[in-house]
Amino acid sequence: MSLKIAVLVSGRGSNLQAIIDAIESGKINGVIEVIISNKKDAYALERAKRHNIEGVFIDPSSCKSKDDYDRAIIKILEEKDIGLVCLAGFMRILTPYFVNKYKRRIINIHPSLLPAFPGLEVQKKALDYGVKFTGATVHFVDEGVDSGPIIIQSVVPIMDTDTPEILSERILKEEHRIYPEAIKLFAEGRIVVKGRRVFTPFPSI
Ligand code: GAR
Repeated sequence: MSLKIAVLVSGRGSNLQAIIDAIESGKINGVIEVIISNKKDAYALERAKRHNIEGVFIDPSSCKSKDDYDRAIIKILEEKDIGLVCLAGFMRILTPYFVNKYKRRIINIHPSLLPAFPGLEVQKKALDYGVKFTGATVHFVDEGVDSGPIIIQSVVPIMDTDTPEILSERILKEEHRIYPEAIKLFAEGRIVVKGRRVFTPFPSI
């Protein structure tokens, strides 16, 4: 049976596109049932339309609290029997209620080698700090910010000529490679979490 996926977005949705492409090419045995955005004009919703995927804008100002907002999302996830929630540039922190309800079924992509540089504008932070390597991380979402168990990471060396924009582009290429890869592993039931460590055993024959 194919994995039912929901993707939560806020912006341009290039990671969403990488996931769509991996599904359409048959790399991932899954189907995106819904794309949910907290921004009305997110380009990711345009991508949803182009690929005939249901796109839903949930207006934060229509909800009284963060809990209400997350309940509105969960209602859709439950209606569609979603098995995996992918955050792809979703710029809201999920409530503990949401995280616990979908424990180990929410994953996120982040443009640094966590636990270095959680939060925002992390490519600039990596340059300002002077690290020689940064990268991209796919991880499970827990109650903290960018802090859950790590599934895949990719290292990106920093060049003397890098600006935040140039570095972001190189990291993004790695994001587009490892995010579909992590979803594929999840869809194949090949992710085992023990404490903070994530193992990806080969399927037993
Ligand atoms: C990506 O670089 C993603 O890693 C980052 O936002 C960008 C979204 O781009 N996410 C975070 O920083 C989350 N902490 P996209 O909309 O083109 O996928």
